[in-house]
Amino acid sequence: MKITVIGAGYVGLVTAACFADLGNQVLCAKKTSKNLDKLNKGISHIYEPGLSEILKTNIEKGRIEFTNDIKRAIDFSDIIFICVGTPQSDSGKADLSQVEDVARQIAENLDNYKLIVEKSTVPVNTHQWVKKTIKRYSKDNIEFDVSSNPEFLREGTGVYDFNNPDRIVVGVESEKASTIFKELYRSFTEKGSTLLITTPAAAELIKHASNSFLAMKISYINMIAELCEKVGIDINMIADGIGYDQRIGRDFLNSGIGYGGSCFPKDVKAFIKIAEDHGLDFGLLKETEKINADMRKRFLEKIENVLWMNKDKNITIWGLAFKKGTDDIREAPAIDIVRELNKTGANLRLYDPQARENFQKLFLENKNIKYFSDKYEALKDSDALLIITEWEEFKKIDLNKVKGLMRLPIIIDGRNIYEPEVMNGFEYYSIGREKFEKSEIMK
Ligand code: UGA
Repeated sequence: MKITVIGAGYVGLVTAACFADLGNQVLCAKKTSKNLDKLNKGISHIYEPGLSEILKTNIEKGRIEFTNDIKRAIDFSDIIFICVGTPQSDSGKADLSQVEDVARQIAENLDNYKLIVEKSTVPVNTHQWVKKTIKRYSKDNIEFDVSSNPEFLREGTGVYDFNNPDRIVVGVESEKASTIFKELYRSFTEKGSTLLITTPAAAELIKHASNSFLAMKISYINMIAELCEKVGIDINMIADGIGYDQRIGRDFLNSGIGYGGSCFPKDVKAFIKIAEDHGLDFGLLKETEKINADMRKRFLEKIENVLWMNKDKNITIWGLAFKKGTDDIREAPAIDIVRELNKTGANLRLYDPQARENFQKLFLENKNIKYFSDKYEALKDSDALLIITEWEEFKKIDLNKVKGLMRLPIIIDGRNIYEPEVMNGFEYYSIGREKFEKSEIMK
């Protein structure tokens, strides 16, 4: 099938590349010419495992192209995915100006039937506005459908998630739109994936409800982690104990420094606002946000409780990205940690396998903030090592080497990535594991 994707951020790029990889003909449009040449050579400007490979393969096969000619992209196909940003505005509401802009451009270039698909995360009933906008700005009375097909791609595993969906949700208002989606996702349903066909409003709401639920799950386990610290129980024993209940599930019950990224913080805020606009107080989500913010504060307190004075101490930080597998630092816990520690006069030695370049745009290198391209180099003469992102390479470290390099063998782990029993010889602190214990699990 021929597919147009508008927007070449994390969602647009992964969606465009993966649709091409399925054998479709894809034209992906972006507003500016920035990175266009690179993209047309198969070089991604974002780090997403597997993405560059499929981009290159599909460019070679002539199945995907990038353009900044929006009119050409709209004319190219009858299925248009809107994958533009919906950032948070000052009020907490999602800023939908990019969606509106695309809707107007579609309207101005509408000369045959189009299925317009919202993939960006938008508040419930945004499809009504998109429809209204297209009707207002199009010259002739040409048939079109506006539908919602929210994405559930996680950064770092976006390509895998696209190809292995738990479910595909589409919200449609016509039989025609429904038929197109069934054909588009046929290779998935044939392999047993669930395609849920619902209304556009329900599909829009499902997205916000999913992300908010997952954020709530993380805050819930983080609150229990706090309690575990007070009563001397290892949080992992609780996460396992409740996670085996299939109604709860073990996923997203990893306690740590809290959630970040471009989705959960923004979507929880937007969902609170959506409820408020309808006269509802979503206190549950307000508390979710509060617990999440507290995790960062408590981590800083933990550092102070361990090191006492930070001034002139060498503190190494491993992990700047908001999660493993990405170079994205939006709402990353590392931002708050570095900002606050920097105020205390500590010498910060930063390492991340992918996010350094983005982080350097926020925190320039200076006498107190140094960046390293080798994680061991960053540890030299350190008084403490902080783990802020759960990168796999941190889990496989040579602990003897680490101990040999550091001035003091202190590790404060914000992601609980180490098994306490292998930390002999270290002063090791983590989240919700003041006392280390393990349940025996027999299957
Ligand atoms: C999230 C959702 O998981 C996707 O389904 C959704 O499509 C996406 O938002 C989006 O709306 O675009 P993402 O933010 O990329 O994906 O990453 P997650 O894997 O969900 O992690 C979010 C944050 O939660 C990270 O900071 C991560 O470290 C943290 N997290 C996750 C925990 O602290 N504990 C966990 O057990 C799991």
